[in-house]
Amino acid sequence: VLIISDIEEAKQELKEMLSGMFGDASKTVVIEEFLSGIECSVFVLTDGDSYKILPVAKDYKRIGEGDTGLNTGGMGAVSPVSFADDVFMKKVEDRIVIPTIEGLKKDKIVYKGFIFLGLIEVKGEPMVIEYNVRMGDPETEVVMLRIKSDFVSLLEGVATGTLESKLLEIDSRYAVTVMLVSGGYPGDYEKNKEMSGLDKVKDSILFHAGTKLENNKVLTNGGRVIAISSYGETKNEALSLSFKNADVISYDKKYYRKDIGFDLK
Ligand code: GLY
Repeated sequence: VLIISDIEEAKQELKEMLSGMFGDASKTVVIEEFLSGIECSVFVLTDGDSYKILPVAKDYKRIGEGDTGLNTGGMGAVSPVSFADDVFMKKVEDRIVIPTIEGLKKDKIVYKGFIFLGLIEVKGEPMVIEYNVRMGDPETEVVMLRIKSDFVSLLEGVATGTLESKLLEIDSRYAVTVMLVSGGYPGDYEKNKEMSGLDKVKDSILFHAGTKLENNKVLTNGGRVIAISSYGETKNEALSLSFKNADVISYDKKYYRKDIGFDLK
């Protein structure tokens, strides 16, 4: 992939690519519009006919603070997302969600479940980066916290085609999650580090990712170890709870990002 900001340079690179710059791999070239903006994840639950839009979230994929370094499976997430206001979400619904559901129906694809829209906000406009047919991680660890309604009932609605009649009530509070990882992740890291302090965690919800129980001890068992999710009236209030509990949990070479949510109001 080449990211180019100058038309003459683009023409030159294109010529070279088509003349074999990357061998067979550049015999065909796809040109896409460059999108500069900030990403968010929108989750839609559908029974194939009606749909519900779940709380919007933003994840943090890079290992380093300020979104630097290697990509990971996710270092944290925040919901709601300040720029995804009612005006933005109306555009998402009208331009992306409804055409997606209608398109599935038109193509006679019976799809029941989650649709994950990976979006980017470009000057106030939502653009689609990717579709997935699943929830997202670590977005799930904040989205689920904000769903006040009985989630099983919503899933029953999906299975039985009665989603429209189901209530989706959303908690107005912020939910955030901070992922504790093993030192060295996403490169080489060691497992089997004994964890302590889990019983001292207060006012947060722990989602175990890479842990295991052995001889009554909790040990690390992966790169992404545990997600610490918290509520708050503000983003910072929720984050300070997660960070406080991140300090309470100990294991050798623990690492977490202390700037989750840094780019949102
Ligand atoms: N957090 C991004 C994903 O689940 O793909």
